[in-house]
Amino acid sequence: MKDSHGRVIDYLRISLTDRCNFRCVYCMPEEGVCQMSHEEILSLEEIERLVVVAAEHGIKSIRLTGGEPLVRKGVDDLIRSMTSIPGIENVSMTTNGVLLPRMAESLKAAGLNRVNISLDTLDPVQFHEITRVGKLEDTLAGIDAALEVGFDPVKVNAVTVRRLDQDFLAFAKLSLDRPLHVRFIEYMPLGQKAGDGLAGWGPEDVVPSKELLERINADAVAAGMEPLVPADRNPLGWGPAKYMAFPGAQGTVGFISPMSRHFCSECNRLRLTADGKIRPCLFSDEEYDVREALRAGADDEVARVLMQALGAKPDEHHDKVGTERNMSAIGG
Ligand code: GTP
Ligand code: 5AD
Ligand code: SF4
Repeated sequence: MKDSHGRVIDYLRISLTDRCNFRCVYCMPEEGVCQMSHEEILSLEEIERLVVVAAEHGIKSIRLTGGEPLVRKGVDDLIRSMTSIPGIENVSMTTNGVLLPRMAESLKAAGLNRVNISLDTLDPVQFHEITRVGKLEDTLAGIDAALEVGFDPVKVNAVTVRRLDQDFLAFAKLSLDRPLHVRFIEYMPLGQKAGDGLAGWGPEDVVPSKELLERINADAVAAGMEPLVPADRNPLGWGPAKYMAFPGAQGTVGFISPMSRHFCSECNRLRLTADGKIRPCLFSDEEYDVREALRAGADDEVARVLMQALGAKPDEHHDKVGTERNMSAIGG
């Protein structure tokens, strides 16, 4: 599948639910989301059928997101059926990790290829402030479980926010002794309150990757370490991260720069929301309803909506901030 700007689109991010066992301040309101009803969300069979059609049109990689994908019942079965769809080469997941100690083994057995785990701070008090209900030790146990069952690579996603004053070097050092790939993501002011983001953090809270790299390297040198250098081998992935590494480290340190470096020209993805809307771009509220096609139409109607969404992919996000949906309903 090529879009109207010549980009090859072979990656589909599927949000399985807008629900979550956390309440991260930048992702959903304190009282939780106005949850989608059972009828609104796509059934696992409907998702599977869409993936069959998408694979026929060139989608090769699937990432399951949320909310928190592991709170959706039947996720093992969905993974098992997806991995057997002709054309689908990789199925991965982005999770907050809490349920991994319980589920990592069965996910691996079902055929899940890899996991990215969201973790924004290593300070237990700040972790609780950001997630409102979460415990740092639970997500750390999730990372341990992912490594133990042999997911490879295992990535840790940290959203960087200026006012949180996170200890970036401590994060980067997680890559030293274990094969962990730490990625710093520039905060994107998306969500209900256009321009200001849900948490009230604005564009001034974005820490540009270039500044971040300089800070990490200055702190590393001050601590007697060697600075980060370009990684000689990138971990497997389809996303826009650029990877560095500490000499001799087992893992890498990646930078995802949606705000400071427009990587839109390399964009390779479509997104599906849990209620069956295809979003051509993370930053745009434009959506295409594939649920009606799945419920009423034949496969070629499903394919038609997919192609319509593909044709609507913009060339880039043009620094737009604020979206009607919160991140919990898009899946990142
Ligand atoms: P890998 O295949 O492991 O590289 O995954 P990924 O980076 O595509 O997925 P992940 O769910 O771990 O996302 C990491 C962060 O990158 C999230 O904050 C995403 O919202 C952000 N991101 C990923 N793709 C895009 C994109 O197309 N546009 C923008 N603006 N941000 C993106
Ligand atoms: N800006 C940047 N990253 C975000 N994520 C969620 N909301 C935002 C935001 N506003 C991250 C999550 C997860 C990934 C899918 O997106 O932390 O790791
Ligand atoms: Fe849940 Fe992830 Fe949103 Fe936090 S960022 S509330 S873990 S979906």
